[in-house]
Amino acid sequence: MKTYKIAVIPGDGIGKEVVPAAIEVLDTVAKLDGGFQFEWTYFPWGCDYYLEHGEMMPEDGIETLKKYDQIFLGAVGMPELVPDHISLWGLLIKIRRELKQSINVRPAKLLQGLQSPLRDPQNFDITVVRENSEGEYSDSGGRIHQGANEIAIQNAIFTRKGTERAMRYAFELAKNSRQHVTSATKSNGLTYSMPFWDEIFDEVKKDYPDIDTAVNHIDALAAFFVMKPHAFDVIVASNLFGDILTDLGGAIMGSIGIAPAANLNIEREYPSMFEPVHGSAPDIAGQGVANPIGQIWTGKMMLDFLGHQQAGIKVLNAIEATLASGVKTRDLGGTANLEEVKNAILKNL
Ligand code: NAD
Ligand code: IPM
Ligand code: MN
Repeated sequence: MKTYKIAVIPGDGIGKEVVPAAIEVLDTVAKLDGGFQFEWTYFPWGCDYYLEHGEMMPEDGIETLKKYDQIFLGAVGMPELVPDHISLWGLLIKIRRELKQSINVRPAKLLQGLQSPLRDPQNFDITVVRENSEGEYSDSGGRIHQGANEIAIQNAIFTRKGTERAMRYAFELAKNSRQHVTSATKSNGLTYSMPFWDEIFDEVKKDYPDIDTAVNHIDALAAFFVMKPHAFDVIVASNLFGDILTDLGGAIMGSIGIAPAANLNIEREYPSMFEPVHGSAPDIAGQGVANPIGQIWTGKMMLDFLGHQQAGIKVLNAIEATLASGVKTRDLGGTANLEEVKNAILKNL
């Protein structure tokens, strides 16, 4: 039997609550399948670790992670105690960059049993491909002068390699989807990065003559997500645009608490990291009311990446059956707690 060695980083806040729930679901689906199993190794890295050790993970943390097949992460951040740029750059973003997880795949589709807050959602089914290693999230810039003349500079670095990689990945996905790719741009307002982005999109699309394309400015695209999300198939977006668009994607599904994500090392040289779109939700942490579906659906993406699509379908079906039976957490308008949703999903498996 195939055994997958998974590094688990529950992280902070509700990450510590939703990760064990998702692991129970994944263990159960593996048992039902009979052909594979998981071996989970827990790493207590995050803000508590930082408060004790002065760093978010040990110095050899990245080397340690390289020994695992994949990484399963909850969420990072305790903004009241540790500044976000320290906690996130010390763990989440550090792992994404050092393990070259350059593609972030984030689906947004209407699940059965859920009502979108939109008036006319139809059956939207979108995959956002977010460039995950550079762009607006570049550690380049600085602060100069002081007082009234103080200036903060944040450079956005777009490489031809990184941009093209994200775009090609989006086109490849579209081949197996509905043959449509939309590029999220903002070349009317940004003078260097986005004109470059558009140019590369025009080049790359020539290699995919069977795929239809569209180009939308990110502001208009955000509005289209609300007015006509069913018009989209695959969307390719820069790091920041993709970040914002995918919280919106969660919201139009019903809650960001269900939105899944996969940080992929598409070369499979290092482990990929599976981590939902939402954060540590300090406002509801510790109450047992967080929605575990984002983390569980994220587990389904890990199953897919490992080649266990049938098991993945089972998980999504169990999620949909649970929602259709009315077992929902508060963020979806229900009254169930995390435990009740998890148990219903386990039963529906
Ligand atoms: P958030 O996603 O944590 O929360 C936004 C809102 O959504 C909150 O009202 C929260 O209660 C709700 N929510 C989120 N997930 C939910 C779930 N599973 N079930 C029910 N409700 C849910 O975003 P934020 O408040 O901007 O960030 C909180 C902390 O998390 C910050 O430190 C932030 O930097 C961090 N963060 C981490 C990640 C990550 O590690 N991947 C992602 C986003 C934010
Ligand atoms: C996400 C998060 C992170 C990001 C933050 C916490 C740095 O919002 O994974 O979507 O912006 O990438
Ligand atoms: Mn985000």
